[in-house]
Amino acid sequence: MTKIEYTELGSTGIRISRIGLGAWQFSQSWGVTDYEKAKAIIARALDLGINLVDTAIVYGRGLSEEFIGRALRELGVKRDDVVIATKIPGEMLSYDDVFKATRRSLRRLQTSYVDLMQVHWPPCWNNIPTCEYMRALERLQAKGLIGAIGLSDFPVELIESARACLARSDIEAIQVRFNIAELEAEKEHIPYAEENDLTLLAWSPLAKGAVLGKYTLEEAAKLSDVRANDPLFHPENYAQILELAGEIKKLAEKYEKTPAQIALNWLLAYSDTIVPIPGAKTPEQVEDNAGAMGWRLEQEDWLNLYEKARKLRITRVTF
Ligand SMILES: NC(=O)c1ccc[n+]([C@@H]2O[C@H](COP(=O)([O-])OP(=O)(O)OC[C@H]3O[C@@H](n4cnc5c(N)ncnc54)[C@H](OP(=O)(O)O)[C@@H]3O)[C@@H](O)[C@H]2O)c1
Repeated sequence: MTKIEYTELGSTGIRISRIGLGAWQFSQSWGVTDYEKAKAIIARALDLGINLVDTAIVYGRGLSEEFIGRALRELGVKRDDVVIATKIPGEMLSYDDVFKATRRSLRRLQTSYVDLMQVHWPPCWNNIPTCEYMRALERLQAKGLIGAIGLSDFPVELIESARACLARSDIEAIQVRFNIAELEAEKEHIPYAEENDLTLLAWSPLAKGAVLGKYTLEEAAKLSDVRANDPLFHPENYAQILELAGEIKKLAEKYEKTPAQIALNWLLAYSDTIVPIPGAKTPEQVEDNAGAMGWRLEQEDWLNLYEKARKLRITRVTF
């Protein structure tokens, strides 16, 4: 029997499951482009008690949001029973675009507000001042179109600057990549989230499946989805990750859990500020991932895995 854990989104008082559902999978990048499949995944998550769904405007160019909005309506989900997090891309951050993008997002999601609106990544080509989009978000929040504000893929220095732009509110969450093979977030983001009572939404918490050892070196080289260009699956990195995956599999046997449950449980035990948002391509994967909650790895096993993970030397220079 899966025991779902809950925590608070920042200091909002909003109760979220300790593991959310990532919805990038509902896109060409990952391949779940059939609505009924997406609906079954969402239904299973909600049935289990997973109430946080993370999507973005760019996922399938609106497809992910559309699927979520339609599924929530068809499933008759009460608005209060689900926490919707979405994101505005770094290209849509002029003051007016923040309003326009949010209203279109709400239309696709078939709702009058999103619980968490995140800036997906900082603007890098359009020269938009940080305070311009932060003030737009704050105005939308004051008007009730967005509940809380979050920042994704922002360096800590820029998070600080962005927070200083807000007159009356504050951010409640940051989102960064964090998984047992890619630990960079522990350098700055995790301590920052801990110090500031922010929820840290951990993306790619399964390292896109790499740490599960489900693909051989040869199979990994042939992946044709979003992973084709991900450095994790480059042989130079993936060969090392497979060794770590071997250790994860051993623990899975010891605890009678699955590799995904071990990999996610390791993140839950890292810090109570971390909320992993694994993506799933089937209802079975959702259920499997939910089983990472309700128990903990023994200290010794957690530490041994950490030691092995810290020895990985991942390079992003792949050509
Ligand atoms: N803010 C950002 O910039 C950003 C960036 C990336 C992702 N995200 C968010 O984070 C979410 C998750 O990240 P992600 O999609 O990159 O990667 P992930 O969650 O680490 O990996 C997801 C993939 O792992 C496999 N998988 C999932 N559960 C499994 C299980 N129980 N057993 C075996 N395989 C399983 C599935 O692929 P296969 O079955 O095909 O192997 C699935 O598509 C996204 O959906 C999105 O919401 C945010």
